Amino acid sequence: MNELNPVMLAKGVFINNAWRPAASGRVIDVYAPAEGRVFAQIAAGTAADVDAAVKAARHAAEEGAWSRLTATERGRLLSRLAVAIADHAEELAKLEARDTGKPMKQARADIAAASRYFEFYGGAADKLHGETIPFLAGYFVPTERVPHGVTAHIIPWNYPAQMFGRTIGPALAVGNATVIKPAEDACLTPLRLAELAAEVGFPDGAINIVPGLGEEAGAALSAHPDIDFIAFTGSPEVGILIQTAAAKNHIGCTLELGGKSPHVVFADADLDAAIPVIANTVVQNAGQTCSAGSRLLVERKVYEEVVSRLNARFASLRAGSPEMDLDLGPVINAKQKERVESFFAKASADDVGVVAEGLVAEGVPAGGFYVPPRVYGPVPRSHILATQEVFGPVLAVLPFDDEADAIALANGTEFGLMAGIWSTNASRAIRVARKVKAGQVYVNAYGAGGGIELPFGGMKKSGHGREKGFEALYEFSTLKTLIIKHD
Ligand code: NAI
Ligand code: MG
Repeated sequence: MNELNPVMLAKGVFINNAWRPAASGRVIDVYAPAEGRVFAQIAAGTAADVDAAVKAARHAAEEGAWSRLTATERGRLLSRLAVAIADHAEELAKLEARDTGKPMKQARADIAAASRYFEFYGGAADKLHGETIPFLAGYFVPTERVPHGVTAHIIPWNYPAQMFGRTIGPALAVGNATVIKPAEDACLTPLRLAELAAEVGFPDGAINIVPGLGEEAGAALSAHPDIDFIAFTGSPEVGILIQTAAAKNHIGCTLELGGKSPHVVFADADLDAAIPVIANTVVQNAGQTCSAGSRLLVERKVYEEVVSRLNARFASLRAGSPEMDLDLGPVINAKQKERVESFFAKASADDVGVVAEGLVAEGVPAGGFYVPPRVYGPVPRSHILATQEVFGPVLAVLPFDDEADAIALANGTEFGLMAGIWSTNASRAIRVARKVKAGQVYVNAYGAGGGIELPFGGMKKSGHGREKGFEALYEFSTLKTLIIKHD
């Protein structure tokens, strides 16, 4: 990055392992959420840049050095990138924290996870193989897992570094060439990671990255006639546009569109274990996590006990700048702050009470996009706090009466991304876990270990397709069957 004090100027769009200015010549201001002021500018990529990036990727996927690597060689490159990320961890964590506002400890954990994605998929690259199918006499029928070709990746701002690893790690492992459109609100670490990938030896065109606005670069990429697959994480509204664009080109896509994920706490739960995890899952990253556990469903007989424990827990939580390194940072931008505050206003207008609350720390930079973490309860079942994704540090508590009621309530939103069941009755925990409609259901835990190894994705309106784990290798490849007749 060039340092143009005080505003950092990102180098442009990254195509064929080289920086070039965006064709538009325009830049986009990037805000430091902790300070609420512009600290960087990124290139405003548009259709022309996307087209150049897709051409570079097409060449890499079919003719270039990338297309000639063996699976083992691709895996080695991914592993080298994992090591390079770990070697640059502090630099990357500082950049990530500045760009997103998250506390340094969170940014460090995110960089470690980004590295781990490349470590995992580096190891997995040469473990994916086909099968042979018994068929007619005189036939030999092997199947082969082949890459889609050029994969497009449109990622959000909440975990830029992790998302970069999560989405291109498996795509590269199976041999696709990638074009990434990172989010305009936070994309400095993906830009730096693409540069690091070139430094460790990724051939030209394997990783291309075009920053820009969603409605310009994002729309151009998703509609490009020469891409073969789209992976998208973001809002349900844009998810519809992405799937429509994919349909027009008759290509596949994965959509990860967030959730309203429940914790289901039965009266026999170990509350000492549960409460800190539950609080953390909605406060982490200021609640801007697709899998945030933002609904807390509590068996009525322990409702008061749970609320009083949450009250004690939240009282000590503080929002602050990355350097203050407290429990949570600001939200990403003024619009997201307004969104969270609009939920606060609606709750207040509807007499839904605050039962626990943390504070914005004293001494935070003026102008930062801070909101206090809050717990509301009892939230009426049809209230927007109980049904809509806030994407902020806001927990809705709802009492339930019995197991059947708990299951109905857990499944009572449009979403189905994640859930946590808390009970010391193993049979009940398993029974309920199997009835809850969500891509991942934890028992007596939630979001453990970052989940790099664990297939992840939505049911219902949380989207479709699976990322993470070995499953992502299937998502980013397709099956080819050879039918060979012999004597
Ligand atoms: P968004 O869906 O607009 O942004 C996600 C990505 O899509 C960004 O890279 C953006 O540039 C791109 N994009 C936007 N419009 C596009 C278009 N027309 N064509 C192609 N790409 C496009 O999300 P936004 O506006 O940043 O946040 C709004 C809400 O979305 C949040 O409050 C939250 O509820 C949800 N969200 C969910 C995320 C998740 O992890 N599931 C991540 C980010 C936001
Ligand atoms: Mg948007």
